[in-house]
Amino acid sequence: MLQAMNDSFKVIDALADGEKLDVLQYQTLIEAMTPELAGYAADIADKVRRKIYGTDVYIRGLIEVGNVCRNDCFYCGIRKSNSMCERYALANETILNCCAEGYKLGFRTFVMQGGEGAMSVDAVCDTVSQIKREYPDCAVTLSLGEYSRDDYVRMFNAGADRYLLRHETADKEHYRKLHPAGMSFDNRMRCLHDLKDIGFRTGCGFMVGSPFQTSFTLAEDLAFIGKFDPDMCGIGPFIPQKDTPFGKFSAGSVQQTLFLLSLIRLIKPNILLPATTALGTLSPNGRELGIKAGANVVMPNLSPLSERRKYALYDNKLSTGTESAQSLALLKESVKNIGYKIVTARGDIKK
Ligand code: 5AD
Repeated sequence: MLQAMNDSFKVIDALADGEKLDVLQYQTLIEAMTPELAGYAADIADKVRRKIYGTDVYIRGLIEVGNVCRNDCFYCGIRKSNSMCERYALANETILNCCAEGYKLGFRTFVMQGGEGAMSVDAVCDTVSQIKREYPDCAVTLSLGEYSRDDYVRMFNAGADRYLLRHETADKEHYRKLHPAGMSFDNRMRCLHDLKDIGFRTGCGFMVGSPFQTSFTLAEDLAFIGKFDPDMCGIGPFIPQKDTPFGKFSAGSVQQTLFLLSLIRLIKPNILLPATTALGTLSPNGRELGIKAGANVVMPNLSPLSERRKYALYDNKLSTGTESAQSLALLKESVKNIGYKIVTARGDIKK
């Protein structure tokens, strides 16, 4: 027992030395989590991050462009079948107004995120090219779901720099339990590979504690990150949304999310790793804990206040307070208090 415990600390050291583990080794590590091991992993992850990014924390202005969605993911509050969800779509000029406000606040990356099909590809391309024309010093990230390679190429040619598409789970069987029959793991993977191949800075990610997840499927997620080599990775705890098929499942664990953030930092030292809204929703200082565990990005909400509550992926999702871009001063203060610094920069990955 003692030997096994010591081994887990050594495995963390090995990861920090750049060793890649196999799925079973990741699984053993995930199962070995204790507060001590997680604390150790967080300390080393923090050191690794400081070597590359110092104490800088990048901010992204998140614009939730619309919650209309053609998909029906069992976990998600804006799924097509949720008749309780009040739908909206931002007009192009509203999105540009969000950028104007964000630019003044110091944002140099804008993330257009939305339900799949919330905007037509034409509208996406028009808006992206307009943002890039007006703010040539800013990066535009898209997070709009699955499209054909040709559509991604159009978005890239319009000027989009980055694309976030969470893989949700690297296990095909598990993927099938989280999504209806019409959605396919293979297409998700096709999308991710196309995005990278086209030249987007690409982000994947998954929920922690999603229904039917196991230490094995999580281990597969870590192995996938090692192999796919994304520039960004968004992870946050699963949080039930009451009007979805998974409304009665329990939420994922903050502790485990923090541990996984540290492991991801160790697997890919230069990765851009957000402390997500879901983490902040489950724990009042979740984002700060995330930063301490190895995260180096936060994505405050720049969406129009009138629509914000409608983008309810899960229950009690934070949208005001320090979560909102307008409260950036508070966020800066709380990040400073834990020894880091919010910076005004595009925040590209350091290669
Ligand atoms: N809890 C936590 N995260 C969720 N997402 C969707 N629904 C939930 C939920 N109930 C995440 C998914 C998706 C991203 C936009 O939000 O991982 O990719």
